[in-house]
Amino acid sequence: MTNKNKTVWSGRFKSSTSKSFQRIGASINVDKRLYEQDIFASKIHTQMLIKKKIIPTKEGKKILKGLEKIKGQIKKGKFVFKEKFEDIHLNIEKKLYEIIGNSAGYMHTARSRNDQVVTDFKLWVKDSSLIIIEELNFLMKHIISKAEKNVSTVMPGFTHLKNAQPVSFAHYLLAYYEMLKRDKKRFQNNLELIDESPLGAAALTGTSYNIDRNFTSKKLGFKKPTDNSIDTVSDRDFAIDFLYASAVCAMHLSRLAEDFIILNSDAYQLISFNDKILTGSSIMPQKKNPDPAELIRGRTGINYGKLNSILTILKGLPISYFKDLQDDKALVFDGFDTLKDTLIMSSELIRNINPNKTRMYNMAKTGYTTATDFADYLVKEKKLSFRDAYKISSKIVNYAEKSKKNLDELSLNEIRKFYKHLNNNVLKVFNVKNSMNSKNSYGGTSERNIKNMIKKYKKELR
Ligand code: ARG
Repeated sequence: MTNKNKTVWSGRFKSSTSKSFQRIGASINVDKRLYEQDIFASKIHTQMLIKKKIIPTKEGKKILKGLEKIKGQIKKGKFVFKEKFEDIHLNIEKKLYEIIGNSAGYMHTARSRNDQVVTDFKLWVKDSSLIIIEELNFLMKHIISKAEKNVSTVMPGFTHLKNAQPVSFAHYLLAYYEMLKRDKKRFQNNLELIDESPLGAAALTGTSYNIDRNFTSKKLGFKKPTDNSIDTVSDRDFAIDFLYASAVCAMHLSRLAEDFIILNSDAYQLISFNDKILTGSSIMPQKKNPDPAELIRGRTGINYGKLNSILTILKGLPISYFKDLQDDKALVFDGFDTLKDTLIMSSELIRNINPNKTRMYNMAKTGYTTATDFADYLVKEKKLSFRDAYKISSKIVNYAEKSKKNLDELSLNEIRKFYKHLNNNVLKVFNVKNSMNSKNSYGGTSERNIKNMIKKYKKELR
């Protein structure tokens, strides 16, 4: 075999790798996505080697130039990735040999692929977390605009999917804003934990060369170097954290999607979607189906799966590096791609929903949703205990049910049958909009509260 076709580690091997294992063991098709991070980290490593006089400046400069050239080739799609060279690290090193000859051999001084891969991977997860945060911001802005237009839109609030109490459609939408805000925080918190540079841990022990880990850490954009070389090459917490944050975020979006599917169903008809995000049926001409919402809901399963897989891979793995860890990247890449698409679809979804305001209002009135307001009225105005007031209100609900009326259709005389000392004033508590606006406690659904919240949210997002 010519040198060009040999792997860098072939020195002690009597035969070449079996074809099937070469294919299955190679990660290049997955980890080529790390090429920018790999080249960036190799350049910083080389700069450090030059600075610390660990390699001759002349050789180092050739390496730096060669790496730039390789980056250009990959960007232009002119780089041929080879399974034979396993992964992105060795593919690049091999190419460097092709371009600058034996000087390439200086690059891997004082490092191992074990610290190299985790450095690249951490850099990638950092960048990708920022992309997710950006998509979250985008979605949160869309939620706010939709909410702003619907502060006074009354809908039935549900518990157990039974009409509970009137709420503002804006308040309902902003509940999702809060979930996404926590998701964003989760990704941001992860960025703090991930902020330690692995480079220089080498295979597992650190190195005898006089390297400068503070230099590489700073140049790579990390806060500090990691403190324990064995933990450094073993640790994949940052990948788990990313997949956990992704799974929780996907779960929130799945609940949103499920809510919208229900509200859009023919049974509810409380919201409709613009045609842009609907699909038809190949057999039923009348159908318009909310596919994006269903994909958002379904793909949450993919995000959960990735998290479960990585936790299982790590469980029971002795510390330091094992090949088991190679599969971490496909999980995180897929998790990222899936969540990013889910976030994009969710933004589209929010932009393309229209509340059916009349139906929302009418449905808010059914199901005796102001029965609690009436009980509260008796407590506040007539100084009854809540439990006594509750009993009277239940009786009125029974009566309304029997006479097939909504609560706001009852006359003062009918109401007085259950509690004598009342005047016309009481009738306003059965108005669903009054009910909504009376919930003025901090975080409640009154229009005044919602407007203040929207102001606060807008400031936060700026
Ligand atoms: N492709 C490998 C991975 O992703 C790089 C590290 C290889 N290290 C090793 N000792 N074989 O995990």
